[in-house]
Amino acid sequence: MTIIAPSILSADFTILGQEINAVENGGADWIHIDVMDGQFVPNITYGPIIVKASKKATNLPLDVHLMIKTPELIIPDFIKAGADFISVHAEACTHLHRTIQMIKNANVKAGVALNPATPTEAVEWIMDEIDFILVMSVNPGFGGQKFIKSSIKKIEKLAAMKEKKNPDLIIQVDGGVNEKTVQDIFNAGATSFVAGSYIFNAPDYKKQISLLKELAK
Ligand code: DX5
Ligand code: ZN
Repeated sequence: MTIIAPSILSADFTILGQEINAVENGGADWIHIDVMDGQFVPNITYGPIIVKASKKATNLPLDVHLMIKTPELIIPDFIKAGADFISVHAEACTHLHRTIQMIKNANVKAGVALNPATPTEAVEWIMDEIDFILVMSVNPGFGGQKFIKSSIKKIEKLAAMKEKKNPDLIIQVDGGVNEKTVQDIFNAGATSFVAGSYIFNAPDYKKQISLLKELAK
């Protein structure tokens, strides 16, 4: 099943609730919320209060992507705010296994995100413990960047690894997803697609979401 997760990073924050409703009505499956701390990535966005506000706006699962250092310090607040999926970066966690258990113990779906230069081996020994892997196909920090082509090989490798270790694992791709890249990403083995600028910078969100779904099947 193809999952489209619009990233609110590219939404109009003066009308966030309406933006979320519009993608929900347009066929979105999850709402992707990009949390940045100005340390792990060179940008600062928002924290638990935006997750809490988004929860009021929609019944769709909230997919919270933590691009922050020492995420374990604030994960409980994101759980309280209503996160349904939480991904942490392998590069940002000294004790990744412990952080993943912390998320899972709260009955929240747990994911590990990998930067473009991080090898697949970073998730090899945690793959059977997690619900999803987030493959960054741009350097995290900003919307609207160009898709990094080597991500395709990386997804293929992860897809082969998951067959042995955790067939139910969802491979999610984040960054530069659009009508030109989505098909190759899907063919490589990803089923969850984060898209920010491709959806929110267009006049008709439903059209964009439908096109991605049409191409990824
Ligand atoms: C980037 C974020 C992405 C971002 C994707 O650091 O993790 O979720 O919103 O934006 P697009 O789809 O415009 O590449
Ligand atoms: Zn993201």
